[in-house]
Amino acid sequence: MKIAVPKERRPYERRVAITPDMVKKYKALGYDVAVETGAGSEASYPDEYYAAAGASIVGDTAVLLRDADIVLKVQRPMTEAEGRNETGLLKHGALLIGMLNPYGARQDLQTYARNDVTSMSMELMPRITRAQAMDVLSSQSNLAGYKSVLDAAEQFGRAFPMMMTAAGTVPPARVFVMGAGVAGLQAIATARRLGAIVSATDVRPVAREQVESLGATFVMVDSDETKQAETAGGYAKEMSDDYKRRQAELIAETIKKQDIVICTALIPGRAAPQLVSEAMLKSMKPGSIVVDLAVEQGGNCALSEAGKIVEAHHVKIIGHRNMASRIAVDASALYARNLLNFVTLITAKTGGTLAVDWNDEIVKAVTLTHQGAVVHPQFAPLS
Ligand code: NAI
Repeated sequence: MKIAVPKERRPYERRVAITPDMVKKYKALGYDVAVETGAGSEASYPDEYYAAAGASIVGDTAVLLRDADIVLKVQRPMTEAEGRNETGLLKHGALLIGMLNPYGARQDLQTYARNDVTSMSMELMPRITRAQAMDVLSSQSNLAGYKSVLDAAEQFGRAFPMMMTAAGTVPPARVFVMGAGVAGLQAIATARRLGAIVSATDVRPVAREQVESLGATFVMVDSDETKQAETAGGYAKEMSDDYKRRQAELIAETIKKQDIVICTALIPGRAAPQLVSEAMLKSMKPGSIVVDLAVEQGGNCALSEAGKIVEAHHVKIIGHRNMASRIAVDASALYARNLLNFVTLITAKTGGTLAVDWNDEIVKAVTLTHQGAVVHPQFAPLS
């Protein structure tokens, strides 16, 4: 069977779904591998490295995809409506695996089904121990959390650690992390390593221990509601209006003492909660920085704009898109490893061919379309 890896063509995307090391692993599993010319170039993986690892390099996307049994992507293929019909190039019966954004691009699922493409979306990987090595949200959020602190440091006109010099003392930076999931915890660890004084908040009480174990202070609204704030999958739920009001009061008090705010709060399948209002920005010191990692889901900060650094009330609000892609070499390497682990799960023991167990909890959780229909219960059309 042939695995094909096209070049990612969506804006702000530098990652690639396979690295030369992973080519060797797929070959060892018995697959043929073809990679589009330049697929890894923006992540510092040159074509010749893929070729040396045993992949064929193909210059034309249509040629690459026409006989591909498995197509590995970072983001979903472009569509005709977007001016480049990659989706239409997938062969009937092919298996498409990537971060297919089913919540945001639900209409594409119909196209996959109509073209008899089996599609599997890696963002839907269940948060169970067996799936940890395939968990792309964790691998990518971890790097995004790290990079968000470096982006803040770059824009910040001051130092992070306390420095006592003959010319005077530089006070340590105060960093507040909103949302202590995977990205938030890495942001805390990174800010601590740089010498900042760090505090963090979340709606899930279990986050307290994780935050404190990294040497940061946990700030949270005490409420019975937080006992139910976590879904069975470990994600946050949307909170009540009363909770939101109390949380806003707490954040308003906390934020005015901060130099840097890193926003990472997300609720799967919904708009991100808005946590930092314009009034809160006004209360911050001149030169403060807000990084809004949730900007593409609507943003945690009222004034953040996707793809921009906005300055308002003397505060810089960083809204870079696709933060993981800004650290494309490692993000690609971890993502490619996640994919390999998943493909290994659905590969026959004898190698070289698929043997998907359609009853496996992991397979069921990620499969969007199969045999010409949308099969995922969350996205299937209501009958
Ligand atoms: P996420 O990216 O969906 O959300 C980020 C954080 O924002 C979460 O901690 C969430 O509780 C928080 N949040 C949401 N609404 C908020 C609000 N209004 N105010 C403050 N914070 C808010 O979550 P992520 O990072 O994907 O992880 C969610 C959980 O899943 C974590 O507890 C993580 O440890 C757990 N997890 C478990 C894994 C496993 O067992 N295999 C793998 C990865 C994560």
